[in-house]
Amino acid sequence: MMQPLLISLIASAAVVSAQTCALPSSYKWNSTNALATQKSGWAALKDFTHVPFNGQHLVYASDHDTGTNYGSMGFSLFSSWSQMASATQNSMSSGSVAPTLFLFAPKNIWILAHQWGPTSFSYRTTSDPTNVNSWSADQTLFTGTLGGSSNTGVIDQTLIGDSTNMYLFFAGDNGSIYRASMPIGNFPGSFGSSFTTVMSGPTNDLFEAVQVYKLKGQTKYLMIVESIGSNGRYVFPLVHGDQPCGATWTNDISHGDLIRSTADQTFEVDPCNLQLLYQGRSPSSDGTTYDLLPYRPGVLTLTNPGPASGGSGSTTSTTTTTSSTGGSTGCTTPIYGQCGGDGFTGCTVCAGSTCTFSNQWYSQCL
Ligand SMILES: *[C@@H]1O[C@H](CO)[C@@H](O)[C@H](O)[C@H]1NC(C)=O
Ligand SMILES: *[C@@H]1O[C@H](CO)[C@@H](O)[C@H](O)[C@H]1NC(C)=O
Repeated sequence: MMQPLLISLIASAAVVSAQTCALPSSYKWNSTNALATQKSGWAALKDFTHVPFNGQHLVYASDHDTGTNYGSMGFSLFSSWSQMASATQNSMSSGSVAPTLFLFAPKNIWILAHQWGPTSFSYRTTSDPTNVNSWSADQTLFTGTLGGSSNTGVIDQTLIGDSTNMYLFFAGDNGSIYRASMPIGNFPGSFGSSFTTVMSGPTNDLFEAVQVYKLKGQTKYLMIVESIGSNGRYVFPLVHGDQPCGATWTNDISHGDLIRSTADQTFEVDPCNLQLLYQGRSPSSDGTTYDLLPYRPGVLTLTNPGPASGGSGSTTSTTTTTSSTGGSTGCTTPIYGQCGGDGFTGCTVCAGSTCTFSNQWYSQCL
């Protein structure tokens, strides 16, 4: 897959009316320490999903008890990250594991999508997402399945909408990222069972926890995926495995959510002010059974946003059909040549072969 970092859901012109920033070619972050400790009886807080809510933070997550059970929870509203530690951790009476929270604005209805419900993916609705036990019964979100080389089956859904469609992205712990779609007028509802594979690569690079965001003020989308490095999990392409990212309390930077600028289905993030709510854990827990690893929340803040453009009141017309981190398309690269990667500025078109994602630094015509 050519230039997998940024994908274009809409191929159309857009009018930009506010300042926006390019994504940096190499991300630099600082990090908070662990922001909250799991409440008594729980081993871990994981898989964070976040929306801004009346100027405060609304966070849902998976929890895992000290035995063998996954569940889900929501934090009471808090107004700054330093207050997350004292926010009440409210258990959901009915589990919604690996949740995705957003407001479906066209119908003014809150959606909580999740895995491990009655169907491949399920969703619940409410008018009051601050009450963790106000959610409806499970509805069918997706019925597709993966066979063969996926051990987990479909896992870690996320959703995003543009003006015409809703999209469901998910992973399978086996090196592929998948997408289903439906007309936005049919949402909320079931995506059915069909899907396409949008990206494939090494299992440990495209592992799970895919998230897709629209960059504010641009017709560009950013996909992030959890990868496995030799020192732990990381979030591709934001954090590279084995490279420092400002966090001192954890080597793992895994499943979470970029801080969105709105709560709605557009999943818009501001590239001038990028923050990632992630799950991390002390390296002293290495060797613990995966489900019992003491994951906790932390926040990374981007310290080197790319150059700003636009500005309040100005308008810029931008046409983006495919997006990339660089590279040119009026050319061809022979088989086995490099066609992409971090900072790559050469030719991204393969002659008689496919530009294949290898890792964040290298794609090759194969
Ligand atoms: C992952 O598993 C699915 C289902 O078997 C398969 O279609 C896909 O090719 C696999 N991906 C990789 C990278 O092996
Ligand atoms: C991270 O950097 C931002 C500015 O780039 C600063 O506002 C913030 O206080 C820093 N946070 C930490 C935890 O150092």
